[in-house]
Amino acid sequence: MPSAPTPFPEPVYVARPLLPPLEEFVRELGDIWSAAWLTNNGAKHVALEQALSDHLRAPHLSLFNNGTIALIVACRALRLAGEVITTPFTFPATPHVLSWNNITPVFADIDPVSMTIDPAKIEPLITARTTAILGVHVYGIPCQVDAIRTIADYYGLRVIYDGAHAFGTELDGQPITAFGDVTMLSFHATKLFHTAEGGALVVRDARLKHQIDLLKNFGIRNEEEVVLPGINGKMTELQAAMGLAVLRHIDTERDARASIAKLYRERLPAINGITCADTPASVRNSYQYFVIRVQEGRARKGRDQLHDEMKRFNIFTRKYFYPLCSTYSCYSELPSAAPMRLPNAHRVAAQVLALPIFGALGQDGADRVCDAIDFVMGSA
Ligand SMILES: Cc1ncc(COP(=O)(O)O)c(C=O)c1O
Repeated sequence: MPSAPTPFPEPVYVARPLLPPLEEFVRELGDIWSAAWLTNNGAKHVALEQALSDHLRAPHLSLFNNGTIALIVACRALRLAGEVITTPFTFPATPHVLSWNNITPVFADIDPVSMTIDPAKIEPLITARTTAILGVHVYGIPCQVDAIRTIADYYGLRVIYDGAHAFGTELDGQPITAFGDVTMLSFHATKLFHTAEGGALVVRDARLKHQIDLLKNFGIRNEEEVVLPGINGKMTELQAAMGLAVLRHIDTERDARASIAKLYRERLPAINGITCADTPASVRNSYQYFVIRVQEGRARKGRDQLHDEMKRFNIFTRKYFYPLCSTYSCYSELPSAAPMRLPNAHRVAAQVLALPIFGALGQDGADRVCDAIDFVMGSA
Protein backbone atom coordinates (compact mmCIF):
# COMPACT_ATOMS: atom_id res chain seq x y z
CA MET A 1 0.00 0.00 0.00
CA PRO A 2 1.63 3.34 -1.04
CA SER A 3 1.93 6.02 1.66
CA ALA A 4 -0.68 8.78 1.72
CA PRO A 5 0.17 11.83 -0.44
CA THR A 6 0.99 15.07 1.40
CA PRO A 7 -2.05 17.36 1.71
CA PHE A 8 -1.95 20.75 -0.03
CA PRO A 9 -0.89 23.46 2.45
CA GLU A 10 -3.87 25.66 1.42
CA PRO A 11 -7.38 24.55 0.41
CA VAL A 12 -7.68 23.77 -3.29
CA TYR A 13 -11.10 24.42 -4.78
CA VAL A 14 -12.58 23.50 -8.14
CA ALA A 15 -12.08 27.03 -9.47
CA ARG A 16 -9.91 30.00 -8.68
CA PRO A 17 -10.63 33.38 -10.25
CA LEU A 18 -8.26 34.46 -12.99
CA LEU A 19 -6.80 37.69 -11.60
CA PRO A 20 -5.02 39.92 -14.11
CA PRO A 21 -1.86 41.71 -12.91
CA LEU A 22 -3.10 44.32 -10.42
CA GLU A 23 -1.42 47.20 -12.25
CA GLU A 24 -3.44 46.38 -15.40
CA PHE A 25 -6.69 46.58 -13.47
CA VAL A 26 -5.56 49.78 -11.75
CA ARG A 27 -4.81 51.29 -15.18
CA GLU A 28 -8.38 50.49 -16.24
CA LEU A 29 -9.67 52.04 -13.03
CA GLY A 30 -7.61 55.17 -13.71
CA ASP A 31 -9.63 55.72 -16.91
CA ILE A 32 -12.86 55.35 -14.95
CA TRP A 33 -11.70 57.89 -12.36
CA SER A 34 -10.78 60.34 -15.11
CA ALA A 35 -14.15 59.94 -16.80
CA ALA A 36 -16.03 60.01 -13.46
CA TRP A 37 -18.55 57.58 -15.03
CA LEU A 38 -19.42 54.40 -13.11
CA THR A 39 -22.31 52.77 -14.95
CA ASN A 40 -24.95 53.26 -17.69
CA ASN A 41 -23.16 52.32 -20.89
CA GLY A 42 -19.84 54.03 -20.15
CA ALA A 43 -16.64 53.76 -22.18
CA LYS A 44 -15.50 50.48 -20.57
CA HIS A 45 -18.91 48.90 -21.19
CA VAL A 46 -18.82 49.94 -24.84
CA ALA A 47 -15.23 48.68 -25.21
CA LEU A 48 -15.93 45.31 -23.56
CA GLU A 49 -19.10 44.69 -25.55
CA GLN A 50 -17.16 45.28 -28.78
CA ALA A 51 -14.15 43.22 -27.64
CA LEU A 52 -16.34 40.26 -26.71
CA SER A 53 -18.36 40.51 -29.92
CA ASP A 54 -15.08 40.27 -31.84
CA HIS A 55 -13.56 37.59 -29.64
CA LEU A 56 -16.63 35.34 -29.75
CA ARG A 57 -17.66 36.20 -33.32
CA ALA A 58 -21.03 37.20 -31.87
CA PRO A 59 -22.15 40.42 -33.53
CA HIS A 60 -25.25 40.98 -31.38
CA LEU A 61 -24.11 40.73 -27.76
CA SER A 62 -25.51 42.57 -24.71
CA LEU A 63 -23.65 42.75 -21.42
CA PHE A 64 -25.47 42.14 -18.11
CA ASN A 65 -24.79 42.43 -14.38
CA ASN A 66 -25.03 38.63 -14.10
CA GLY A 67 -26.10 35.63 -16.13
CA THR A 68 -29.28 34.94 -14.18
CA ILE A 69 -30.79 38.38 -14.81
CA ALA A 70 -29.70 37.98 -18.44
CA LEU A 71 -31.70 34.74 -18.74
CA ILE A 72 -34.74 36.31 -17.05
CA VAL A 73 -34.59 39.10 -19.62
CA ALA A 74 -34.15 36.59 -22.47
CA CYS A 75 -37.45 34.93 -21.52
CA ARG A 76 -39.14 38.34 -21.46
CA ALA A 77 -37.67 39.44 -24.77
CA LEU A 78 -38.97 36.29 -26.45
CA ARG A 79 -42.34 36.73 -24.66
CA LEU A 80 -42.24 33.20 -23.29
CA ALA A 81 -45.16 32.00 -21.18
CA GLY A 82 -46.91 28.78 -20.14
CA GLU A 83 -44.40 25.91 -20.09
CA VAL A 84 -40.77 25.65 -21.13
CA ILE A 85 -39.02 22.30 -21.49
CA THR A 86 -35.64 22.18 -19.80
CA THR A 87 -33.15 19.90 -18.08
CA PRO A 88 -33.04 18.98 -14.39
CA PHE A 89 -29.23 18.52 -14.62
CA THR A 90 -28.19 22.12 -14.21
CA PHE A 91 -27.53 24.95 -11.78
CA PRO A 92 -30.61 26.28 -9.87
CA ALA A 93 -30.65 29.47 -11.95
CA THR A 94 -31.89 27.63 -15.06
CA PRO A 95 -35.35 26.59 -13.80
CA HIS A 96 -35.55 29.59 -11.44
CA VAL A 97 -35.50 32.09 -14.32
CA LEU A 98 -38.60 30.36 -15.65
CA SER A 99 -40.34 30.67 -12.27
CA TRP A 100 -39.43 34.37 -12.17
CA ASN A 101 -41.30 34.70 -15.46
CA ASN A 102 -44.33 32.74 -14.18
CA ILE A 103 -43.42 29.90 -16.52
CA THR A 104 -43.66 26.26 -15.44
CA PRO A 105 -40.44 24.34 -15.99
CA VAL A 106 -41.04 20.95 -17.56
CA PHE A 107 -38.12 18.60 -16.99
CA ALA A 108 -36.91 16.30 -19.74
CA ASP A 109 -34.36 13.55 -19.10
CA ILE A 110 -30.77 13.89 -20.27
CA ASP A 111 -28.57 11.95 -22.65
CA PRO A 112 -26.46 9.65 -20.45
CA VAL A 113 -23.24 10.39 -22.36
CA SER A 114 -23.35 14.13 -23.20
CA MET A 115 -25.38 14.87 -20.01
CA THR A 116 -27.31 17.52 -21.96
CA ILE A 117 -31.08 17.44 -22.57
CA ASP A 118 -32.09 14.43 -24.68
CA PRO A 119 -34.00 15.63 -27.77
CA ALA A 120 -35.89 12.32 -27.92
CA LYS A 121 -37.37 13.09 -24.49
CA ILE A 122 -38.54 16.59 -25.47
CA GLU A 123 -41.25 15.82 -28.01
CA PRO A 124 -43.56 13.77 -25.72
CA LEU A 125 -43.55 16.69 -23.24
CA ILE A 126 -44.80 19.31 -25.71
CA THR A 127 -48.31 20.59 -24.99
CA ALA A 128 -50.43 23.50 -26.22
CA ARG A 129 -48.85 25.58 -23.42
CA THR A 130 -45.22 24.94 -24.45
CA THR A 131 -43.45 28.04 -25.77
CA ALA A 132 -39.76 27.14 -25.76
CA ILE A 133 -36.94 24.71 -25.11
CA LEU A 134 -34.23 25.84 -22.67
CA GLY A 135 -31.11 23.69 -23.09
CA VAL A 136 -27.90 23.90 -21.08
CA HIS A 137 -24.47 23.36 -22.63
CA VAL A 138 -23.37 21.45 -19.53
CA TYR A 139 -19.64 21.96 -18.74
CA GLY A 140 -19.40 23.52 -22.23
CA ILE A 141 -20.51 20.26 -23.91
CA PRO A 142 -22.97 21.46 -26.57
CA CYS A 143 -26.58 20.32 -26.61
CA GLN A 144 -27.71 18.40 -29.70
CA VAL A 145 -28.48 21.69 -31.39
CA ASP A 146 -29.63 20.36 -34.77
CA ALA A 147 -32.15 17.92 -33.31
CA ILE A 148 -33.45 20.60 -30.94
CA ARG A 149 -33.82 23.09 -33.80
CA THR A 150 -35.77 20.54 -35.87
CA ILE A 151 -38.24 19.93 -33.02
CA ALA A 152 -38.55 23.64 -32.26
CA ASP A 153 -39.22 24.54 -35.90
CA TYR A 154 -41.80 21.79 -36.27
CA TYR A 155 -43.77 22.92 -33.20
CA GLY A 156 -43.09 26.66 -33.56
CA LEU A 157 -41.08 26.89 -30.33
CA ARG A 158 -38.27 29.24 -29.33
CA VAL A 159 -34.86 27.89 -28.34
CA ILE A 160 -32.79 29.40 -25.53
CA TYR A 161 -29.41 28.09 -24.45
CA ASP A 162 -27.94 28.51 -21.01
CA GLY A 163 -24.31 28.72 -22.08
CA ALA A 164 -23.02 29.73 -18.63
CA HIS A 165 -20.18 27.19 -19.07
CA ALA A 166 -19.63 27.68 -22.77
CA PHE A 167 -17.50 30.81 -23.18
CA GLY A 168 -15.41 30.23 -26.32
CA THR A 169 -16.99 26.85 -27.08
CA GLU A 170 -17.24 26.09 -30.78
CA LEU A 171 -19.11 23.35 -32.59
CA ASP A 172 -17.82 22.34 -36.02
CA GLY A 173 -15.89 25.62 -36.13
CA GLN A 174 -18.96 27.74 -35.40
CA PRO A 175 -19.32 29.75 -32.19
CA ILE A 176 -21.78 28.04 -29.84
CA THR A 177 -23.74 31.29 -29.63
CA ALA A 178 -24.71 30.87 -33.30
CA PHE A 179 -27.29 28.23 -32.29
CA GLY A 180 -30.67 28.98 -30.75
CA ASP A 181 -32.59 32.25 -30.62
CA VAL A 182 -30.68 33.45 -27.55
CA THR A 183 -27.61 32.18 -25.69
CA MET A 184 -26.70 33.30 -22.19
CA LEU A 185 -23.07 33.45 -21.04
CA SER A 186 -22.09 33.83 -17.38
CA PHE A 187 -19.09 35.91 -16.36
CA HIS A 188 -19.17 34.89 -12.70
CA ALA A 189 -15.79 34.96 -10.89
CA THR A 190 -15.45 31.18 -11.19
CA LYS A 191 -15.72 31.26 -14.98
CA LEU A 192 -12.70 31.24 -17.29
CA PHE A 193 -13.64 34.69 -18.59
CA HIS A 194 -15.18 36.77 -15.82
CA THR A 195 -16.13 40.25 -14.68
CA ALA A 196 -16.41 39.21 -10.98
CA GLU A 197 -20.19 39.05 -11.51
CA GLY A 198 -21.58 39.45 -14.99
CA GLY A 199 -23.03 37.87 -18.05
CA ALA A 200 -24.25 38.42 -21.58
CA LEU A 201 -26.96 37.51 -24.02
CA VAL A 202 -26.07 36.75 -27.61
CA VAL A 203 -28.87 36.96 -30.16
CA ARG A 204 -29.21 36.60 -33.90
CA ASP A 205 -30.36 40.05 -34.97
CA ALA A 206 -29.95 43.71 -34.12
CA ARG A 207 -33.68 44.18 -33.49
CA LEU A 208 -33.75 41.64 -30.66
CA LYS A 209 -30.56 43.10 -29.18
CA HIS A 210 -32.21 46.51 -29.19
CA GLN A 211 -35.22 45.07 -27.33
CA ILE A 212 -32.94 43.37 -24.79
CA ASP A 213 -30.94 46.56 -24.24
CA LEU A 214 -34.20 48.36 -23.47
CA LEU A 215 -35.36 45.63 -21.09
CA LYS A 216 -32.09 45.64 -19.11
CA ASN A 217 -32.38 49.42 -18.58
CA PHE A 218 -35.90 49.69 -17.09
CA GLY A 219 -37.42 49.95 -20.59
CA ILE A 220 -36.17 53.54 -20.87
CA ARG A 221 -36.07 54.60 -24.53
CA ASN A 222 -35.12 58.22 -23.94
CA GLU A 223 -35.54 61.01 -21.41
CA GLU A 224 -39.25 61.22 -22.11
CA GLU A 225 -40.29 57.64 -22.85
CA VAL A 226 -40.40 54.36 -20.92
CA VAL A 227 -41.73 51.76 -23.34
CA LEU A 228 -41.38 48.39 -21.57
CA PRO A 229 -41.58 47.01 -18.01
CA GLY A 230 -37.83 46.53 -17.83
CA ILE A 231 -35.43 45.67 -15.04
CA ASN A 232 -31.94 46.76 -13.94
CA GLY A 233 -29.59 44.35 -15.70
CA LYS A 234 -26.78 46.79 -16.42
CA MET A 235 -23.11 45.92 -16.09
CA THR A 236 -21.07 48.58 -14.28
CA GLU A 237 -17.85 50.19 -15.48
CA LEU A 238 -15.93 48.40 -12.71
CA GLN A 239 -17.14 45.01 -13.94
CA ALA A 240 -16.37 45.93 -17.54
CA ALA A 241 -12.88 47.10 -16.53
CA MET A 242 -12.25 43.73 -14.90
CA GLY A 243 -13.46 42.02 -18.08
CA LEU A 244 -11.13 44.05 -20.32
CA ALA A 245 -8.17 43.18 -18.09
CA VAL A 246 -9.11 39.47 -17.83
CA LEU A 247 -9.72 39.11 -21.58
CA ARG A 248 -6.02 39.77 -22.29
CA HIS A 249 -5.05 36.70 -20.26
CA ILE A 250 -7.60 34.07 -21.11
CA ASP A 251 -5.64 32.44 -23.94
CA THR A 252 -2.76 31.70 -21.55
CA GLU A 253 -5.22 30.47 -18.92
CA ARG A 254 -6.96 28.25 -21.49
CA ASP A 255 -3.64 26.66 -22.50
CA ALA A 256 -2.73 26.01 -18.86
CA ARG A 257 -6.14 24.40 -18.25
CA ALA A 258 -5.80 22.33 -21.43
CA SER A 259 -2.53 20.86 -20.09
CA ILE A 260 -4.19 20.05 -16.76
CA ALA A 261 -7.12 18.40 -18.54
CA LYS A 262 -4.68 16.37 -20.65
CA LEU A 263 -2.87 15.16 -17.55
CA TYR A 264 -6.15 14.22 -15.83
CA ARG A 265 -7.23 12.33 -18.97
CA GLU A 266 -3.95 10.44 -19.07
CA ARG A 267 -3.94 9.42 -15.42
CA LEU A 268 -7.49 9.09 -14.15
CA PRO A 269 -9.04 6.44 -16.45
CA ALA A 270 -6.42 4.01 -15.10
CA ILE A 271 -8.27 4.11 -11.77
CA ASN A 272 -11.01 1.49 -11.58
CA GLY A 273 -14.51 2.87 -12.06
CA ILE A 274 -13.46 6.41 -13.06
CA THR A 275 -14.23 7.90 -16.46
CA CYS A 276 -13.67 11.46 -17.65
CA ALA A 277 -16.51 13.50 -19.13
CA ASP A 278 -15.39 13.97 -22.71
CA THR A 279 -15.81 16.76 -25.18
CA PRO A 280 -16.51 15.42 -28.70
CA ALA A 281 -13.80 15.96 -31.35
CA SER A 282 -16.05 18.45 -33.19
CA VAL A 283 -16.09 20.75 -30.13
CA ARG A 284 -13.65 23.42 -29.00
CA ASN A 285 -13.54 22.89 -25.24
CA SER A 286 -14.31 25.82 -22.93
CA TYR A 287 -12.13 24.24 -20.20
CA GLN A 288 -14.60 25.60 -17.70
CA TYR A 289 -14.87 22.42 -15.64
CA PHE A 290 -13.20 19.04 -15.51
CA VAL A 291 -15.64 16.38 -14.43
CA ILE A 292 -15.16 12.71 -13.68
CA ARG A 293 -17.82 10.07 -13.26
CA VAL A 294 -17.49 7.47 -10.54
CA GLN A 295 -19.35 4.31 -11.52
CA GLU A 296 -20.81 2.74 -8.41
CA GLY A 297 -20.13 -1.01 -8.48
CA ARG A 298 -17.02 -0.76 -10.65
CA ALA A 299 -15.14 1.58 -8.28
CA ARG A 300 -14.06 0.58 -4.78
CA LYS A 301 -15.72 3.69 -3.41
CA GLY A 302 -18.67 5.77 -4.48
CA ARG A 303 -18.63 9.40 -5.57
CA ASP A 304 -19.73 10.71 -2.17
CA GLN A 305 -16.98 8.87 -0.35
CA LEU A 306 -14.35 10.12 -2.79
CA HIS A 307 -15.66 13.69 -2.39
CA ASP A 308 -15.47 13.44 1.42
CA GLU A 309 -12.10 11.72 1.63
CA MET A 310 -10.42 14.21 -0.74
CA LYS A 311 -10.91 16.87 1.95
CA ARG A 312 -8.23 15.10 3.96
CA PHE A 313 -5.78 16.33 1.29
CA ASN A 314 -7.23 19.84 1.38
CA ILE A 315 -8.89 19.23 -2.01
CA PHE A 316 -12.50 20.40 -2.23
CA THR A 317 -14.17 18.75 -5.20
CA ARG A 318 -17.79 19.55 -6.09
CA LYS A 319 -20.80 17.37 -6.80
CA TYR A 320 -21.76 19.46 -9.78
CA PHE A 321 -24.76 19.13 -10.50
CA TYR A 322 -26.18 17.45 -7.46
CA PRO A 323 -28.91 17.51 -6.27
CA LEU A 324 -31.00 17.64 -9.43
CA CYS A 325 -33.22 20.71 -9.82
CA SER A 326 -36.26 18.42 -10.12
CA THR A 327 -35.72 17.35 -6.49
CA TYR A 328 -35.84 20.89 -5.03
CA SER A 329 -38.96 21.32 -2.90
CA CYS A 330 -40.15 24.13 -5.20
CA TYR A 331 -40.24 21.75 -8.21
CA SER A 332 -40.52 18.20 -6.87
CA GLU A 333 -44.34 18.14 -7.04
CA LEU A 334 -44.37 18.84 -10.79
CA PRO A 335 -45.45 15.78 -12.81
CA SER A 336 -42.28 16.02 -14.95
CA ALA A 337 -40.11 15.96 -11.80
CA ALA A 338 -41.01 12.38 -10.89
CA PRO A 339 -37.71 10.46 -10.52
CA MET A 340 -38.97 7.54 -12.64
CA ARG A 341 -39.25 9.96 -15.59
CA LEU A 342 -35.67 11.12 -15.20
CA PRO A 343 -33.59 7.95 -14.75
CA ASN A 344 -30.48 9.14 -16.63
CA ALA A 345 -30.38 12.46 -14.80
CA HIS A 346 -30.59 10.68 -11.43
CA ARG A 347 -27.85 8.21 -12.37
CA VAL A 348 -25.51 10.90 -13.71
CA ALA A 349 -26.09 13.27 -10.76
CA ALA A 350 -24.98 10.46 -8.42
CA GLN A 351 -21.75 9.92 -10.40
CA VAL A 352 -20.31 13.33 -11.29
CA LEU A 353 -17.51 15.05 -9.45
CA ALA A 354 -15.84 18.28 -10.60
CA LEU A 355 -12.09 18.47 -9.99
CA PRO A 356 -9.88 21.54 -9.59
CA ILE A 357 -9.05 23.12 -12.93
CA PHE A 358 -7.39 26.53 -13.01
CA GLY A 359 -4.08 27.63 -14.47
CA ALA A 360 -2.38 28.36 -11.13
CA LEU A 361 -2.84 24.70 -10.11
CA GLY A 362 -0.13 23.76 -12.62
CA GLN A 363 0.90 20.31 -13.78
CA ASP A 364 2.40 19.55 -10.40
CA GLY A 365 -0.85 20.41 -8.59
CA ALA A 366 -2.89 18.35 -11.04
CA ASP A 367 -0.53 15.42 -10.50
CA ARG A 368 -1.07 15.71 -6.76
CA VAL A 369 -4.85 15.74 -7.24
CA CYS A 370 -4.50 12.50 -9.24
CA ASP A 371 -2.25 11.00 -6.53
CA ALA A 372 -4.90 11.78 -3.93
CA ILE A 373 -7.72 10.25 -6.03
CA ASP A 374 -5.56 7.22 -6.72
CA PHE A 375 -4.83 6.82 -3.02
CA VAL A 376 -8.45 7.26 -1.89
CA MET A 377 -9.82 4.89 -4.50
CA GLY A 378 -7.14 2.29 -3.84
CA SER A 379 -7.36 2.32 -0.05
CA ALA A 380 -9.85 0.37 2.01
C1 LIG B 1 -25.59 26.39 -15.80
C2 LIG B 1 -25.64 27.71 -15.13
N1 LIG B 1 -26.65 28.55 -15.41
C3 LIG B 1 -26.75 29.77 -14.84
C4 LIG B 1 -25.80 30.22 -13.94
C5 LIG B 1 -25.96 31.55 -13.31
O1 LIG B 1 -25.04 32.49 -13.79
P1 LIG B 1 -24.68 33.77 -12.88
O2 LIG B 1 -23.94 33.28 -11.68
O3 LIG B 1 -23.81 34.61 -13.80
O4 LIG B 1 -25.94 34.46 -12.53
C6 LIG B 1 -24.73 29.39 -13.61
C7 LIG B 1 -23.72 29.87 -12.66
O5 LIG B 1 -22.67 29.33 -12.48
C8 LIG B 1 -24.64 28.10 -14.21
O6 LIG B 1 -23.66 27.25 -13.90
